[in-house]
Amino acid sequence: MRLRNFTLSITLMLWSSAAGAQDTEPQLVIVNPNATFLAQQRALPAAEVIARGETLYQVNCRACHGADLRGGDQGGPNLLRSGIVLNDINGEVIGEVVSQGLGRMPAFGNLNGGDIEAVAGFIHSILATSETQGSTPPVDYDLDILVGDAAAGERYFNQECAGCHSVTGDLMGISSRIDDPYDLQNRWVAGGQGSRGGLTGTTTTATVTLANGDQVSGRLLRYDDFFLSLRTPAGAYRSFTRKGDSPGIVIDDPLTRHKELLAVLEDETIHDVTAYLETLK
Ligand code: HEC
Ligand code: HEC
Repeated sequence: MRLRNFTLSITLMLWSSAAGAQDTEPQLVIVNPNATFLAQQRALPAAEVIARGETLYQVNCRACHGADLRGGDQGGPNLLRSGIVLNDINGEVIGEVVSQGLGRMPAFGNLNGGDIEAVAGFIHSILATSETQGSTPPVDYDLDILVGDAAAGERYFNQECAGCHSVTGDLMGISSRIDDPYDLQNRWVAGGQGSRGGLTGTTTTATVTLANGDQVSGRLLRYDDFFLSLRTPAGAYRSFTRKGDSPGIVIDDPLTRHKELLAVLEDETIHDVTAYLETLK
C-alpha cells in the first residue's frame, strides 16, 4: 500500500474556517487523530503536492537520506529524528538546508520554493505516520517506482530526449549498466551521477571576453552577479569582477536541459520514462 494512502486513511479531514477570518477560502486541514507529538498534528499539503514531493525526494534526497527517511547509503542522517524537520512547518527551515547545503550536504540550486515545499510536505507526511517522535513509520515504505507506462515513456523520449540521446547509441543497454531502477531514474532525471551533489555530473564551461577582445575559457568554478572564477585547461585559476555586461561571458552548461526538465517533469512522466529506459537491456 502506498504510504500516502495510508496516511490519508488514518487521518480525518475537516473543513476549518478560522475564527474571525473574512471571506477567505476555507482551508483543508488534515488532522491526525493518532498524533502523539506536535509535528504530527500539523496540516499536510494536498495529496498532489505530497506526491510531487515524493518524486523530488526520490530523485534528490533518497540516496543519502534513505527511502524511509531513516538515513541512506551515502551518509545522510535520519530525518525522522531531525530537529530541523520537527521544527519545520512548510519548508521554511528544511528549505534553508536544501538551498544552502549543510556540512557535507550539497546545496540544491535546482529546487525552487514550490519544490522545497513539496519535498517538505512529503517528509511531514511520513513523519505524520510515526507512532512516536523519531520512531519508524508503522508501514513498510514501499517505493515501487516501476509503475509507469513504457510506451508513453517511449513517446516522451522521442519527443524530448532523442535530440541529444539515442537508445542505439549513448543510452544503449542503459538498464543493464544501471540495474537499480532508482539509480536509473536518478541518473536520467539529473543527467548524471544521480542525486550525489545535485546536478554536477558534467563540466560547465565559461568563456570570458575581456574589453581588449581577449578570451579566456575554462571550467566554471563560481559565478554570481559580481564575480566569476574558472580554471583554464592549463590549470590556471582566473577570477573576474563583473560589472553589468562587462566582461562579456558565455556559460555553457551541458545539463541545462536536464535542469529545466527537473522543474517541469510530472510524476507520471518520470515514471513512464523510467519504465521505458528499464526496457533498454
Ligand atoms: C549527498 C548526500 C545528501 C543528499 C543528496 C541530501 N542530503 Fe540532506 N544531509 C546530508 C548530510 C551528510 C547531512 C548532515 C549535514 C551535517 O550536519 O553535516 C544532511 C542534513 C540534512 C538535514 C538536516 C538534518 C539535521 O537535523 O541536521 C535536512 C533537513 C536534510 N538534509 C534534508 C535533505 C533533503 C530534503 C534533501 C533532498 C532535496 C537532501 N537532504 C539531500 C546529505 C545529503
Ligand atoms: C539538450 C540535450 C539533452 C536533452 C534534451 C536531454 N539530455 Fe540527457 N543528457 C544530456 C547531457 C549533456 C548529459 C551528460 C552527458 C554525459 O555525461 O554523457 C545527459 C545525461 C543523461 C543521462 C545519463 C547518461 C549516463 O550514461 O549516465 C541519461 C540517462 C539521460 N541524459 C537521459 C535523458 C532523458 C531520458 C531525456 C529526456 C527526458 C534527456 N536525457 C534529455 C543532454 C540532454
